[in-house]
Amino acid sequence: MAYNLLKGKKGIIFGALDSNSIAWKVAERAHEEGAEFVLTNAPVALRMGTINQLAEKTGSQVIPADATSMKDLEHLVDESMKILGGKIDFVLHSIGMSVNVRRGYHYTDQDYKFTKIGWDVSALSFHRVMNVLYNKKAMNEWGSIVALSYIAAQRVFPDYNDMADNKAYLESVARSFGYFFGRDFKVRVNTISQSPTPTTAGSGVKGFDGFLNYAEKMSPLGNATALECADYTISLFSDLTKKVTLQNLFHDGGFSKMGISDEVMQMFNESAEKEHKKHKKDKKK
Ligand SMILES: NC(=O)c1ccc[n+]([C@@H]2O[C@H](COP(=O)([O-])OP(=O)(O)OC[C@H]3O[C@@H](n4cnc5c(N)ncnc54)[C@H](O)[C@@H]3O)[C@@H](O)[C@H]2O)c1
Repeated sequence: MAYNLLKGKKGIIFGALDSNSIAWKVAERAHEEGAEFVLTNAPVALRMGTINQLAEKTGSQVIPADATSMKDLEHLVDESMKILGGKIDFVLHSIGMSVNVRRGYHYTDQDYKFTKIGWDVSALSFHRVMNVLYNKKAMNEWGSIVALSYIAAQRVFPDYNDMADNKAYLESVARSFGYFFGRDFKVRVNTISQSPTPTTAGSGVKGFDGFLNYAEKMSPLGNATALECADYTISLFSDLTKKVTLQNLFHDGGFSKMGISDEVMQMFNESAEKEHKKHKKDKKK
């Protein structure tokens, strides 16, 4: 259902690779809510992905930009303001990639060249994006900037590898830069900490299906889908959340506050019962 929440607003959306991408759903929902925006992704992703279909569907233009390149980002922001005919109201940073994860390096034995690349792409890029927007005075007052995070920034999820550290950095950058954006431009900056979601980036993590099922069984409301994440993001871009800033907002069906759920406990009870029966049988022999 559309409510015209973003009528007249202009934005930049990073990270729509294919129709599973969270950014793809945000773009579809932003279009339904009346926004105009520019889509962007790394040049290599534009060649691999299907972003042109999304551009056509939402009446948007696509501008390639590697989020680790200041030159690309400056070009992106200048061109976006030209295309959209003014300053920007909302920006979505939906970018993540770990070379250590992709190449199967263990957290305890990383290749630090890869660690640096992953950090640059997944975390420092958020600082770079905000640096360009801030120094070009490209955001309208009461604008909103959102990046996507994961709870491995606060808790241990061993297979999330160096992405856990990248997300902790990303969330810190949101607070630190968010202060200056709030003070100087009345712009808010937040991160959304989303449930595990079956996308290209998500499914790349070892044991992802296990993660997904565990989170589903732990969360009283179940995992949040990509579309539900898009809905939440739209609310943060809208004028209904003007004083929410410097926050890491959990959008995870309640997972982050849980200790144990009945469903997960039951699985452990069943396996303990099996062990007990086996032990009794072995004793009788
Ligand atoms: N999928 C999950 O389980 C999950 C959970 C919580 C948070 N997140 C976060 O959500 C965000 C979006 O990921 P997704 O799950 O939609 O996966 P996705 O693979 O669809 O999106 C990741 C995007 O990052 C882009 N990207 C990679 N390198 C780039 C670069 N150098 N410059 C510009 N863009 C680049 C990719 O092209 C891709 O579009 C990421 O920050 C991810 O960490 C995902």
